[in-house]
Amino acid sequence: MINDPVLVNDWHPVATVAELQAKQLMSARLLDEEIVLWWANGRSLAWQDLCIHRGTKLSLGRVAENQLHCPYHGWVYDESGQCIHIPAHPDQVPPAKARAKTYQIKEQYGLVWVCLGEPAHDIPAFAEWDDASYRKIMSGPYDYAAAAPRAIENFLDVAHFPFVHAGYLGDPQHSEINDYDVHTGPDGIVAENITVYQPNPDGTGEGKNVTYTYRVLRPFTAYFIKHGTSNSFAALFTIAPITETACRAWMWMAMNYGHDVPGDEIRAFQDEVTGQDVPIVQSQRPELLPLDLQAELHLRSDRTAIAYRQWLKILGLTFGVA
Ligand code: FES
Ligand SMILES: [Fe+2]
Repeated sequence: MINDPVLVNDWHPVATVAELQAKQLMSARLLDEEIVLWWANGRSLAWQDLCIHRGTKLSLGRVAENQLHCPYHGWVYDESGQCIHIPAHPDQVPPAKARAKTYQIKEQYGLVWVCLGEPAHDIPAFAEWDDASYRKIMSGPYDYAAAAPRAIENFLDVAHFPFVHAGYLGDPQHSEINDYDVHTGPDGIVAENITVYQPNPDGTGEGKNVTYTYRVLRPFTAYFIKHGTSNSFAALFTIAPITETACRAWMWMAMNYGHDVPGDEIRAFQDEVTGQDVPIVQSQRPELLPLDLQAELHLRSDRTAIAYRQWLKILGLTFGVA
C-alpha cells in the first residue's frame, strides 16, 4: 500500500454503478493497488484483486449466485470476503484465514467510491445534486496519462480557455484575467469572482461575461459553478488516481436551463473540451505536480493553482506530487 494516509483514507471513484452492475465483475486500479469490483445482492463490493491461495487475480474469475469464484482452483468466496468452499477439499471447512482483503465501498452520484483505508471524510457534497431545478448529466470517463493533480489544476485554470478552448470556452481577443479572491480553509479552497468572456456560455449563441466560483473539495475532486445573466451551470469533476502518472476522471454537469437539449449533445461538447485538454496535460513536465512554488513560474492569474499546491502541501500529500 502506498504511503499517503490522506489519499489512502479518502474516497475515490473507480467506476460507474451502471457499468459494474452490467459487468458484475471487473478490475480497477486505485493508488497503485489492484482491486476487484463485483456485484452481489444488488450492491457493489471492492476487494484486493488477489486470491489468498496462490495470488491469482479474482477479477479473472466469475460471479455466480452472489459468490465470487477464483479462476485457478475454484475457491468460492461469499460477500463478506470469506472463502466458504475449497473444491479440492469439499468436506473441509475453509480456514478462517482464507479471506479476501475487503475495502470500504459506497455508491453515490451514480459512481462507485472506494476507500482503501479508513475514510476520514465523506464523499464531497455536490450542492446541485438534490436541487430539482438543475438537470444532471454525466460525462466521462476521461483517461489521462498524467498525474491526477495535474488534471485537477487544469480543471481549475481559466487562463487557458482562450487558447486551448478558443471558440468553445474562451476567445483569444478576451484573454485578460481579472484579480479574483481565493480562500483556503480546512475544507478546501474557494476561488470566487473570476470573470471570463465566453462566445456562447448558455446556448443563446451570444457572447458574454460569466462569473465562475471554483471549489477544491478534496485533493482530486473539484467543482465550479458559473453564473450568466440568468442561467447557472455547475460541474463536479472527480478523479481516480490510478498510478502516480495515470488517472481517470468523471464529470457531473448540472444546469438550470437547456432542459430540451439532448444529453448526448451536452456530453459531446464536454468530450470535445476535455479532448482538447488531455494532450496539454499529458505533455506537462515534470509529470508530478511540483509543490515547491519555486519550481514553476506563478502569476497573479495562477492564484487558484498556487492555493491548490499550498493546500496539498499542508495536507501532506505525497502521491502524484513532487
Ligand atoms: S489461487 Fe485462487 S483458488 Fe487457488
Ligand atoms: Fe480546459
